[in-house]
Amino acid sequence: MTPPPGPAGAPGVRAARVEDLAAVQAIYAEQVRTSTSTFDVLPPSLEDWAGKLAATLRPHHFLVAIDDDGVQGYAYSSAYRPRPAYAATRETSIHLAPRARGRGLGRLLYDELLARLRADGAHVVLAVVALPNPASRALHLACGFTSAGVLREVGHKLDTWVDTEFFQLLLD
Ligand SMILES: CC(C)(COP(=O)(O)OP(=O)(O)OC[C@H]1O[C@@H](n2cnc3c(N)ncnc32)[C@H](O)[C@@H]1OP(=O)(O)O)[C@@H](O)C(=O)NCCC(=O)NCCS
Repeated sequence: MTPPPGPAGAPGVRAARVEDLAAVQAIYAEQVRTSTSTFDVLPPSLEDWAGKLAATLRPHHFLVAIDDDGVQGYAYSSAYRPRPAYAATRETSIHLAPRARGRGLGRLLYDELLARLRADGAHVVLAVVALPNPASRALHLACGFTSAGVLREVGHKLDTWVDTEFFQLLLD
């Protein structure tokens, strides 16, 4: 695992803890209210996040990126679909606080998350990116994902029809 922040304050990644969830809730709530990056329209409560953390025990993972100022972002994996033949496929989600974007934290989180999924024997990782989102597209492509196609106007949020693009990574 990437070491947690050292004395110099370098950011690090570790498994999320209950005490991280207030920051996680605030980071996601900002996106729910202001962005089409998520199709949620009501911010989940702290209790909702506690439930998600409890559900992301192995074979799933919930990671946070932290620096001297606290939790700057998170990424987690979850089941893609419940039917048994999808068991080796995971879906990932990632969000950073606005101040934390564009300085490598997304990559740090994903490198750790993908390493854990690979170690678990997961076979395929999927991510759904609502368009436009150049930072998320760039992150997924940089991590080796390839585009698996665009679904046109499947979301409607902030008075706009929104396309989604599927990204896929084969781990082995
Ligand atoms: C999408 C997000 C997770 C990316 O994380 P990040 O820390 O900003 O990205 P990084 O700094 O790690 O950069 C990763 C790659 O994306 C590129 N990138 C980052 N921001 C970019 C931007 N705005 N436009 C184009 N490319 C960008 C980087 O150059 C890097 O590519 P490289 O390795 O080829 O140089 C982050 O910006 C974010 O949380 N955005 C808001 C929420 C969101 O959209 N979540 C994703 C939902 S699918």
